[in-house]
Amino acid sequence: MGAEGAKNWLTLDRSSTFPVARGLKTLLEENIDPLVKFIPSNMNLVSVGVGNGEKEQVLLKGLIRKNSAESPASARRHLLRYYPIDVNDQFVEMALENVRDLPLEKMGIVSLIEDLPLLKKYLHPPLLFCILGNTFCNYEPDSILNLVCENLESGDLFLFDAHILPSSDDEEALWSAKRSIVGAYASRENALFNMYPLLQHGMVPEDFDFELLLSSVESKVAGQLYRTKKTLYILKDTSFEVGSRAVAFKEGDSIRMGFTYKYTFDQLKTYLEARGFEILKAILNREGTNTIILAKKKN
Ligand SMILES: C[S@@+](CC[C@H](N)C(=O)[O-])C[C@H]1O[C@@H](n2cnc3c(N)ncnc32)[C@H](O)[C@@H]1O
Repeated sequence: MGAEGAKNWLTLDRSSTFPVARGLKTLLEENIDPLVKFIPSNMNLVSVGVGNGEKEQVLLKGLIRKNSAESPASARRHLLRYYPIDVNDQFVEMALENVRDLPLEKMGIVSLIEDLPLLKKYLHPPLLFCILGNTFCNYEPDSILNLVCENLESGDLFLFDAHILPSSDDEEALWSAKRSIVGAYASRENALFNMYPLLQHGMVPEDFDFELLLSSVESKVAGQLYRTKKTLYILKDTSFEVGSRAVAFKEGDSIRMGFTYKYTFDQLKTYLEARGFEILKAILNREGTNTIILAKKKN
């Protein structure tokens, strides 16, 4: 949270060992024109977990360019609305700053994605509802797809991106993809990112062991899925204050942390179809490790 939390994420996002969200920005930049062709000109863009909004800036520029080429007078009359949403107020500020010079109506919102049902009444439809930077994969697939499905109207669209496992029958290719995922997530930079809230309270990296596993989970919808499993093992008795509360750890305690799913493209497709979505456009990089998907609810 706050400026330090924002800096923590941006440092990880820029680090050479963790190219996850950054690779998705490159894919978006390379495919912006074919993608915006599938997005009608009257859509307003809402992005949850917007971060610094760099990807949204690319998307908005592409949409504005397309709309003015198609109908210059109407593009001047009807400004696109943009709603950057994040739990971190600093990110909302950065996302607004990043599009300061674009002809848009903007309203930043500091809120949780889980509050979408409440927020919806402040958002003008039709909506292009975005979850970018691999954020989709940080949620249980059923819960995030239900949330999106329950809040999308028939004219709205859903855009998300994901860092994925290549669909491959080639054992060696799969093994090498898994090894590079473990390399990125077990890197020192990602370990520091995960320890950060505790480091801020006076702990030091030597107080922990960071363990990263890529474990397999059986899903009824899409078969065997892979998911990262992060644990911090405490190596030293520690206590500190958070607000008015004291938090104490004993040597040998462990902290289980958030996860990230690593789907294959086919598994994502299966999930979307099973949850009532139709894919309008899917972009996949040559290596099959990054994807951007534009979908809508089936009628
Ligand atoms: C993986 S980062 C992605 C950021 C950005 N979209 C990008 O592509 O770089 C996840 C973002 O979601 C925000 N976030 C985390 N939990 C959230 C929640 N429950 N509701 C809203 N935003 C959240 C974080 O502050 C962070 O900006």
